[in-house]
Amino acid sequence: MGPTAELAVIGGSGLYALLDGATEHEVETPYGAPSGRVTIAEVGGRRVAFLPRHGRDHRHPPHRIPYRANLWALRSLGVRQVLAPCAVGGLRPELGPGTFVVPDQLIDRTSGRVQTYYDTGAVHVSFADPYCPVGRHTLLDAAAGRGVSAVDGGTMVVVEGPRFSTRAESRWYTAIGGAIVNMTGHPEAVLARELALCYTPIALVTDLDAGVEAGESVTQDEVFRVFAENIDVLRTVLLDAVAALPAARDCPCGHALDGISLPIELP
Ligand code: ADE
Repeated sequence: MGPTAELAVIGGSGLYALLDGATEHEVETPYGAPSGRVTIAEVGGRRVAFLPRHGRDHRHPPHRIPYRANLWALRSLGVRQVLAPCAVGGLRPELGPGTFVVPDQLIDRTSGRVQTYYDTGAVHVSFADPYCPVGRHTLLDAAAGRGVSAVDGGTMVVVEGPRFSTRAESRWYTAIGGAIVNMTGHPEAVLARELALCYTPIALVTDLDAGVEAGESVTQDEVFRVFAENIDVLRTVLLDAVAALPAARDCPCGHALDGISLPIELP
């Protein structure tokens, strides 16, 4: 029997390793190789996989990440719960650099990314609530337990990138209800849903986006610097959440495909 894991963390910019004493695994999928090697270790009695979203040396920019291979690889290892830290821009002045947000909604502004596993047949998953409710509460509790007041809820606007937004775009994202903006939250979330996985993001605000009154124009340096400044607390919160996530799933995520006849066999 090959390597197995029950839950996974997909690490974002600046989070290229999470687990000490981990074993490394190359995983192949029908969609090619995932972003990088998957490392697996035991945390709080549970087997946890870690996958660096951008790969080693940040080789995959947001619009070129092999999203389908990543989620498929994790499911093929046995993973059913995914925590997804990511760097985001704030679309409201009160959501400044260093703020943690556990969003509850997303708006997809990406284009040209493959966002389904199902190219034949009638497979239309519900996506009204894109994130796992249990994962969200677990992450919020883990943050509170470390004295971090993460914002509960907010809409993440996911843009195509790799450029940052214009001021007009950014103001528009705020006007349509966006709280934060990033480049990787989609199609990761919907692909997880299409595999009936629990998926929960935790966003770290690294900058105020261009349309926010006080905001200068965003730079890549700023994004990486603020992420690095907060990486230790993020890692601690993630590991606490991993240990606290209930092993038995009592949420709608695992039922996403109930009653649907699938044109492909899931791993
Ligand atoms: N990731 C981090 N900051 C961002 C921003 N302002 N826009 C899009 N993606 C981001």
